[in-house]
Amino acid sequence: MPLVNMKDMLQHAYHHGYAVGAFDLVSLDFLEGIMIAAEQARAPVILSLAESHFEYFDFEVVMPAVEAAARRALVPVAIHLDHGASPESAVQAINHGCNGVMVDASNLDFTENTRVTRQVVDTAHACGIPVEGELGYVPGVEGEDAENHPGDVSYTSLAEAKAYVERTGVDFLAVSIGTVHGRMKGKPKLDYQRLKQINENLEIPLVIHGGTGLSDDQFRRLIANGVTKINYYTALSDIAAKQIRKNARANVSSSYTALLKDINHAVAAEVERCMRLWGSAGRAAEVLERCEPWEPVEHMIIYNVEGIDDIDVEKMMAEGRRVLATIPGVLDVFTGEAVQNDASYRYSWLVRFCHAAVIDSYREHPAHIAFADNLFRPVAGKRISIDFQTVTPAAIQNHGEHEARKRIMS
Ligand code: 13P
Repeated sequence: MPLVNMKDMLQHAYHHGYAVGAFDLVSLDFLEGIMIAAEQARAPVILSLAESHFEYFDFEVVMPAVEAAARRALVPVAIHLDHGASPESAVQAINHGCNGVMVDASNLDFTENTRVTRQVVDTAHACGIPVEGELGYVPGVEGEDAENHPGDVSYTSLAEAKAYVERTGVDFLAVSIGTVHGRMKGKPKLDYQRLKQINENLEIPLVIHGGTGLSDDQFRRLIANGVTKINYYTALSDIAAKQIRKNARANVSSSYTALLKDINHAVAAEVERCMRLWGSAGRAAEVLERCEPWEPVEHMIIYNVEGIDDIDVEKMMAEGRRVLATIPGVLDVFTGEAVQNDASYRYSWLVRFCHAAVIDSYREHPAHIAFADNLFRPVAGKRISIDFQTVTPAAIQNHGEHEARKRIMS
């Protein structure tokens, strides 16, 4: 259950003056380490997946593990696409379970960045999902070789930030104020005055990319000026690599599993240190209480067909599975045939939406309209269609309170 709405999570952090860590993960050891730390520190956490890292793991295969780790956690968790390459990447991430997305169009000029980001916002918001935009250039690419991709910092300007947020409707803004991705030579000089002005004018959660290498004092000053989400990766990668070298030294003929031993705990120690420093430790309970639980909605249709044979029914279903799965916010499309021969309804669709907002955006989506009008409705006779949401303990509690209020008022 503790997957929560990421916008609620970051709003809480913004209004209570702390920052949530968004830790990029590249393996199950990282996932375990981040979750061990979050539970140990009782901290809300963002599991972050950077598109540039998809060459190291199969995103589609890893996402169910990420979601399972989030759902069984005792602390609030959000799952975020970091540095998505295109609006299509955002849809892919949403449909695989991310409930926050960033498409990085900051390399484009202001007009193009605004246009692309607006497109992502329209799509994501129709799925109930918040969006992070970036303005300005944080040198390096997210990853270990940032030193080799220097480039000059392009600072976020206040005027552009105001126009960008207004025109795109982003929920969080990543700003460039002097940090760089990855390892760095020397200490970066951060422009706190610029950050302060942006924060005072925008009043939305701000994001810092390039958390590695900043001092405790720099983190404190960033957070005091509206930074609410801190992206962190290279330090974790260095710590994991150091652990592997230590394991190798301990036994030159180490097996694969022996080489990877304790990476999770080494990563956890650093993540926990960050959580305590950034003020998110100990916040889990209050965040859980204030955030919308992130639960899918099951769109269920049971139906009979008229005028087509079994082969054409299967063709229609196959086309539905193909087309409907591409609609933003659709996690899964199941088509079924009744096990019992005498069932009142022979066939079913079970389409899983990531959020209740998708009930409307799915119905109005051109791909759904075309499929429903041309292939489904003409052959579907008697049918029932219902959207179901999970009965969560919170929903039971709200219902209990609602019933109690009704009794008091009557
Ligand atoms: P670091 O690798 O410098 O911690 O930055 C991570 C990052 O910003 C990912 O988006």
